[in-house]
Order: sequence, then C-alpha cells, then structure tokens
Amino acid sequence: MTALIVCTSVSHGNTRRVADVMGEVLGARVVAPDEVDPAELSSYDIVGFGSGIFNMSFHPDLLKFVDRLPDGASARAFVFCTSGFPEPAVRRYTHNLSGRLASKGYDVIDVFSCRSFDTWWPFKPFGGIHKDRPNDADLDAARAFARRL
Ligand SMILES: Cc1cc2nc3c(=O)[nH]c(=O)nc-3n(C[C@H](O)[C@H](O)[C@H](O)COP(=O)(O)O)c2cc1C
Repeated sequence: MTALIVCTSVSHGNTRRVADVMGEVLGARVVAPDEVDPAELSSYDIVGFGSGIFNMSFHPDLLKFVDRLPDGASARAFVFCTSGFPEPAVRRYTHNLSGRLASKGYDVIDVFSCRSFDTWWPFKPFGGIHKDRPNDADLDAARAFARRL
C-alpha cells in the first residue's frame, strides 16, 4: 500500500509528531501542503490529511490545499488533528474536512484526534494546557490507528 501524509503543523509541532509516527507505520512521506503537487496525490493508495485546530477549524493552509485537489480522486483517505479540546457537537470540523475530501472523490475511512499542548490566548497567562501532550500514550494510539488502516 502506498501512502502519503499531508500535514500542517505551525503552532508547536504537535500534529507533526502524530503524523511522523503514523508515517513510520505506513512507510509514508510526511509533507506540508506547499511541498507537494496536488496532482501527485492520485498516485497513492491512501492519503492522510491533518493539522492542529484553530478557531474550531483545520488550518487554512490545509483547507486551501484540499480545495485545490483535482476532482475524481477515487482513493482512500484519513483525517487527523490535534487540539486543546475534543471536537464540539456544534462544530464538526472533522466531518467538514471529510465532506470536502469526499467531494474530491476520496473515501475517508477513519479519523484520529488527540489532545495537545494548547497556548490559545486565554490559556497563555497560565503557560497553556496539556503541556506534555501528545504524550507516549497518544503516539501509541496514533501508531495503532495507522496499523488499522
Ligand atoms: C490561535 C489558536 C487557536 C486555537 N483554536 C483552538 C480551537 O478552536 N479548538 C481547540 O480545541 N484547540 C485550539 N487551539 C489549540 C491547537 O489546536 C493545538 O495547540 C494544536 O495541537 C496545534 O497544532 P500544531 O502544533 O500542530 O500546529 C488553538 C491554538 C491557537 C494558538
């Protein structure tokens, strides 16, 4: 199975750490959106798309990249994110990204999410929350997720 992981990780490298362990399991290259030609993605059996969550959404660089993908992909995909809080029912950002990918022809087979070091401004005066995450257990969960794909 050929795999590629497209990851935007700009805040603390939290999502990149998750992407890297998934990439080790899948034998996949991990790239930022500006490091890969969208047309290249059709040559992979499965593609992962992930970023941190910013203002209840995936990072704009990742979303813009997905919007530039050619239609009719006919490939499998997975979505992953790191965030300070679990996804709220009122704003299903993983569903939103999965829907965008489905509109490009991707079959999104699974989603992974974990808590992570978060220095969004309300938490900054206290040094942020979840300082030690993603931790070993989170990275083990990411590896297990990748093995199941
Ligand atoms: C400006 C800003 C906005 C954020 N907004 C959210 C949010 O809406 N929901 C949430 O759960 N976490 C939020 N976070 C926390 C990030 O999602 C978290 O730190 C993530 O792991 C960053 O990923 P990265 O280090 O890979 O860029 C925010 C962080 C920053 C700095």
